[in-house]
Amino acid sequence: MKKIILLGYMGCGKSTIAQKLSGIIETPYIDLDDYIEKKVKMSIKEIFETHGEIHFRKLEHTYFVELLNSPDEIIVGLGGGTPCYANNHELLIGNGITSIYLKASIDTLFNRLVINKSKRPLIADKNDEEMKEFIAKHLFDRSYYYNHAQHKVNVDGKSVEETVNDILNLLA
Ligand code: S3P
Repeated sequence: MKKIILLGYMGCGKSTIAQKLSGIIETPYIDLDDYIEKKVKMSIKEIFETHGEIHFRKLEHTYFVELLNSPDEIIVGLGGGTPCYANNHELLIGNGITSIYLKASIDTLFNRLVINKSKRPLIADKNDEEMKEFIAKHLFDRSYYYNHAQHKVNVDGKSVEETVNDILNLLA
């Protein structure tokens, strides 16, 4: 069954956009972070704190594959790091898969992340200056993996509706 995969850096709007898209195309949306939290009965923050990032990356791979193998037609919103570990980027291309990279600039990401960083272990303890530098370097490293998506949609300066329309045009 068909899967639509939305990916991109933390704060690019994956969840908001996926929820809106889900309502319009009447296809259920599953957020991979939420799915992991339900499966292991711990928050992402607790998983990082208790077991460390490597353990989280293993869970992330396992449950990403589980969702890809499910018989349902679904929209999957990945975590910002999902495509960058365990060869997950190779899973962005395949039969019945439409993968879309929601591309945002460093400024867009910073402005969105600065107001809600506590739930994100990778940036929670950084001040503004450290965060901007971190995002710039991290995004550069990760772009290689993000660019394996079949499609790219730029989200800078666009409303959720405009971005969803761009996606609908891709899917048409
Ligand atoms: C991460 C992004 C988070 C979550 C975890 C690690 C990352 O997801 O998976 O905190 O490595 O970029 P969001 O992109 O949904 O915030």
